[in-house]
Amino acid sequence: MEKIIVANLKMNLTFDEIKKYKNEIEKQEMRNFILAPSTLYLSYLKSDKYELCSQNGYYVDSGAFTGETSFKQLKDIVNYSLIGHSERRNNFNESYEIVSKKIDSCIENKIIPILCVGENEIEKKDNLQYDKVSKEIISALKNKKIDKIIIAYEPIWAMGTGNIPKYEDIENMCNYIKNIVKKYTKNYKIIYGGSVNSKNIIDICKVNGIDGVLIGGASNDPKNIIDMYNTVKKYVK
Ligand code: PGA
Repeated sequence: MEKIIVANLKMNLTFDEIKKYKNEIEKQEMRNFILAPSTLYLSYLKSDKYELCSQNGYYVDSGAFTGETSFKQLKDIVNYSLIGHSERRNNFNESYEIVSKKIDSCIENKIIPILCVGENEIEKKDNLQYDKVSKEIISALKNKKIDKIIIAYEPIWAMGTGNIPKYEDIENMCNYIKNIVKKYTKNYKIIYGGSVNSKNIIDICKVNGIDGVLIGGASNDPKNIIDMYNTVKKYVK
């Protein structure tokens, strides 16, 4: 099965840089490539060469919510949305309840959620990674009719640090996630995120059960992301 590559540009790149980025990635067909730029650039980046993902969204359809963009507004532009990214949970106090409401709104607006889960450094030390991940998945999915979902396992201690878990730990977590998520839908994928780069992407994509990767920092340079994309297409079947 072909791997999925999600590029999370976070709050990076100016409009000039985004124009160059688009120019580069449109030079080839980018099947199963999902780009998550700042909300500001979503309409501009609409293309038939790749798919778009929002980094966030608001669960109320419309109204007096200055500064927010609803999933209802996003649905004509994106197919996917990151939900519960640790930067949102930690910097913007997104609670389990808010994450759950956002999943509801995605379902209603036919946006495929990419639910981000994963333990922090302390939870890892205390061996609580499985408890944390199950809590994050169950609280987000319980009592819902999920058509399709992507779960992104992103250990917080690995993000932006250059450190990644042992491959066997990724595989074990992947099996664990699979056993939880399959109770909610048959149509799911599990991807890994956290310091994915051109050196480790092949080995990560080869871990049993991993359907792809979510790349932050290493996706800011379009040439780098295209290289990584092409290497995965070539070496991982
Ligand atoms: P990173 O970020 O690749 O820079 O570690 C991953 C993410 O935030 O999704």
